[in-house]
Amino acid sequence: MWLYLAALVGLYYLVRWHRERQVVSHLRDKYVLITGCGSGFGNLLARQLDMHGLRVLAACRTEKAAEQLRAQSSDRLETVTLDIAKTESITAATQWVKERVGDRGLWGLVNNAGISGPWGRSEWLTKEDFVTTLNVNLLGTIEVTLSLLPLVRKARGRVVNVSSIAGRLSFLGGGYCISKYGVEAFSDSLRRELAPFGVKVAIIEPGSFKTNMTNTERVLQQFQAAWDQARPEIKEIYGEKFLESYLKLLSEHVLPVEKENLSEVTDCMEHALTACHPRTRYSAGWDAKLFYLPMSYMPTFLADAILTWGLPRPAKAL
Ligand SMILES: NC(=O)c1ccc[n+]([C@@H]2O[C@H](COP(=O)([O-])OP(=O)(O)OC[C@H]3O[C@@H](n4cnc5c(N)ncnc54)[C@H](OP(=O)(O)O)[C@@H]3O)[C@@H](O)[C@H]2O)c1
Repeated sequence: MWLYLAALVGLYYLVRWHRERQVVSHLRDKYVLITGCGSGFGNLLARQLDMHGLRVLAACRTEKAAEQLRAQSSDRLETVTLDIAKTESITAATQWVKERVGDRGLWGLVNNAGISGPWGRSEWLTKEDFVTTLNVNLLGTIEVTLSLLPLVRKARGRVVNVSSIAGRLSFLGGGYCISKYGVEAFSDSLRRELAPFGVKVAIIEPGSFKTNMTNTERVLQQFQAAWDQARPEIKEIYGEKFLESYLKLLSEHVLPVEKENLSEVTDCMEHALTACHPRTRYSAGWDAKLFYLPMSYMPTFLADAILTWGLPRPAKAL
């Protein structure tokens, strides 16, 4: 009985492996637009796809970042400045893409651009802090997708949305996890809606990796800024000691866990764009695969106990 079961599981993985290694043809003629190419995953993916011969349209928030990327890539890679939080910028970038792809359409759209903060305990933040994050990570992603979808449909292409393991398990206050839960929901409905047109939608769920977004100093500064703006009664409830211990925990135990091998993530993105049979979801990084994802399936009381274990207690906690 166990032998049959093992053989069945082995067969499943063999078939999956075979299916997943089939690559789409004519990649050199395919255009892919990636947002947030100034740094991190987007920057690496742009250079990686360029090296593998795809026609990369790299969107950077600033011209300076675009210039730097051009200097590091082939002449085939083209850049555009795009702020995904601004409608006029999205409209202009869409027109720019249209002029390049013509009748071929856009094979790939990678919604990668994002921000992390403002970080902080939710109570330390304002509505505007939440809006700032949602405006880029969620509404920006939605607006870019809606604007470019006609071109993707023309190519029967791919939409690759960069979510996070924080879109499966909410373990931080502020707008970040909310925005990534939103990206997951948006992608799920989009996948079903676009299937009849031959468009595939994939979601990337990285664990924690070392990029500008997770820079320790930057994250600690954001927590400090959120604390500084918190109302006096909130500060009294938490107490300075809480902040001190919380920042210590983050800097000594949480943030150093980040991994430096960003290609674990960009390889997933590339597979989603180039495989004949891409996956619906890709989790990248051992922390995502072995810790956060399994925890997201646990009973809530258990996940809560694990996630709050070792956290400092607010001064006025019961
Ligand atoms: N690093 C991680 O551990 C991790 C984990 C899970 C998911 N992710 C996700 O991965 C994606 C890439 O992040 P990353 O880690 O590579 O961080 P990153 O190095 O900070 O890259 C983010 C990129 O997005 C750009 N960006 C920010 N706001 C933008 C806007 N309004 N319009 C256009 N571009 C904008 C940034 O440009 P500027 O630098 O010019 O602002 C930057 O180039 C994000 O969606 C993030 O949520 C990251």
